[in-house]
Parts: sequence; C-alpha cells; structure tokens
Amino acid sequence: LFAGEVEFLKGVVAMDGLPGSDRIEVCFAGRSNVGKSTLINALTGRKAIARASNTPGRTQEINYFTLGAERYLVDLPGYGYANAPVAVVEKWQRLLKNYLSGRQNLRRAFVLVDFRHGVKPVDEEIMRLLDSSAVTFQCVMTKADKVKEVDRAAVLTQVRAALAKHPAAYPEIVLTSSEKGMGIPTLRSIIAGLI
Ligand code: GTP
Ligand code: MG
Repeated sequence: LFAGEVEFLKGVVAMDGLPGSDRIEVCFAGRSNVGKSTLINALTGRKAIARASNTPGRTQEINYFTLGAERYLVDLPGYGYANAPVAVVEKWQRLLKNYLSGRQNLRRAFVLVDFRHGVKPVDEEIMRLLDSSAVTFQCVMTKADKVKEVDRAAVLTQVRAALAKHPAAYPEIVLTSSEKGMGIPTLRSIIAGLI
C-alpha cells in the first residue's frame, strides 16, 4: 500500500479547503518538533515528501497526502510551540480543533509523543478534544533511538496512566524511531487495516 503510492495533494489553511470526505483518513497530531513529518516520510519510504525541519512550527498547514486510491494521510501543524506569534498560534489551534472535532471520515488520530518527554499537558488537551469528538486515537512514541532501553519503562508507565483517563484512547502504544525504521511496518499495517 505504501510503496510508490503516496503523493502530496494539498496544504489546507482553513476548513473550507479540506478535500472531499469520500476517502478515509488518518492524521498525525503532536507537539511541535515531535517528529510528525519525519514519521510520514518514514512510512512512505520517501525522504522528503512531508517537510521536516529542526525549526519547531515548520508545518503550518494541514498537509494532505493521498495513500493509494482510498486513503489520505494528514500531517497536522504542531501544537504547544510557544515562540510563534499569538495570533498565528490561535489561528492554528482553531483550525486544528475544528478539524479534529469535525472530520467525519477521520478513522484514527495518531497522537505522537516524544519518548524522552512523555505525555505533556498540551497532549492531554488534544486527547480530551478527541474524547469529546469520539475520534479513536492511538499513541505513537517517537525518537525511540534517543532513549535507552532501561529508561523506557518509566516513560511508558506514565503514558499508559495518561491514556487510561481517555475513553477514545486505543490501548496499544506504538514505539517508533523514524531514524532507525523501528515500528514503521507496524504502523503501516495498522493504517492499511483501517476501514
Ligand atoms: P512541526 O511540523 O514543527 O510540528 O514538527 P514535526 O512534528 O513535523 O517534526 P519534524 O518531523 O519536522 O522533526 C523534528 C526534528 O526531529 C527533526 O530534526 C527530525 O530530524 C527529528 N526527528 C524526527 N523523528 C526522529 C527520530 O525518530 N529520531 C531522531 N533521532 N530524530 C528524529
Ligand atoms: Mg511537521
């Protein structure tokens, strides 16, 4: 499904720019710099289909990618980035909230969490929004290559405890490293299996 079947479709800056909801879609949400765009690149096997960057706040639009003939992958602007102008932050937040609460063909949200940091209050805010919108979400730990095996259990305990508070949370956590390719096949098959 992923090999050679992903194309960039469009960047969306307002709800009325969303493509038709005739395909099912999954989205990638998470704090700024958590690795959303990099993960999409890793999933597709292309180096730079989604624009990744060291500069937090790089993805400022909702970026749509077609996946085969029946699915969209959606790269969301990051949240929790403090250094952007207030007006800009508010605009993204409004778009993000409208999108997450109003997209009827959204089958699953992947909430990315940096393995070094665990679930933060801004992540919980998004999780509550997903609860109230009845969008099933699944937690994806990113940058596993930066966390030693021995340090992982403590973070995962914190993440599990956070997820337990959210009725829309899917219990299985996916551990990934886009750098090492870890967890990528798992995530591909989860996406391919959604109907
Ligand atoms: P915004 O678009 O600003 O919200 O950020 P983003 O979530 O799309 O993050 P992006 O993919 O641009 O990655 C941010 C930084 O993290 C880049 O420097 C990436 O190279 C790095 N990064 C992403 N994934 C991994 C990973 O699995 N391992 C390591 N070591 N670095 C990663
Ligand atoms: Mg990005």
